[in-house]
Amino acid sequence: MKFDLITIFPHILDSYLNESILKRAQKKKLIKINFHDPRQFAKDRHKTVDDRPFGGGPGMIMKLEPLYKTLKKIKYTKKSLVILFDPAGKKFDQAMAKKFSELDQLIMISGRYEGVDARIEKFIDEKVSIGPYVLSGGELPAGVIIEAVSRLLPGVLGNQESLREETFTSNSEIRNQKSEIYKEYPHYTRPEVFKYTEKGQKKKLAVPKVLLSGNHKEIREWRARNKK
Ligand code: ADE
Repeated sequence: MKFDLITIFPHILDSYLNESILKRAQKKKLIKINFHDPRQFAKDRHKTVDDRPFGGGPGMIMKLEPLYKTLKKIKYTKKSLVILFDPAGKKFDQAMAKKFSELDQLIMISGRYEGVDARIEKFIDEKVSIGPYVLSGGELPAGVIIEAVSRLLPGVLGNQESLREETFTSNSEIRNQKSEIYKEYPHYTRPEVFKYTEKGQKKKLAVPKVLLSGNHKEIREWRARNKK
């Protein structure tokens, strides 16, 4: 799957996208992430991509033309979607991640400053928000979406990881969008007893005995009872 991000900060996500699962996914050519800087289409020597709002008011607005030209330069496939990040957009969730993972290409426009010239609406399919708070731009939202979507693509996660994923991303469950589905039983690993000192007192934290019992039926039941 291809991700194309239009941003005036094309290197801002470099280190995050080039570690761990996403690094592996790119190496295996399961995903391709392209960055497109609208400054390449700015006309003046200062590479200006923003301007003052008509009608007055504070802040600067991203100009339409450089964004439009950047969009035109990107090769669309038959199954492409163009989204614009906006805190007032449709809330991104696991169901939307699943929908995006069925595309060939997701084209994302990251606004900065106070906003984007409203005429951009003509050239996008959807406005998307990653949550009810205001960020300085769409670059972090793009990183969030690239990760959430990539995890759903075949081969991106290892066998063990995808098995865990399946327990809470089956279609009917994500349609319900209950927070229940994100619950997991608690996990523990060695040591069996963790010892530490707090305010001069020796303390211990032990792993629930049942998990050490080797009784798989009881372990299954304990895990089912203890999801949170
Ligand atoms: N741009 C600024 N804040 C945002 C948010 N919460 N989600 C998506 N895009 C944004």
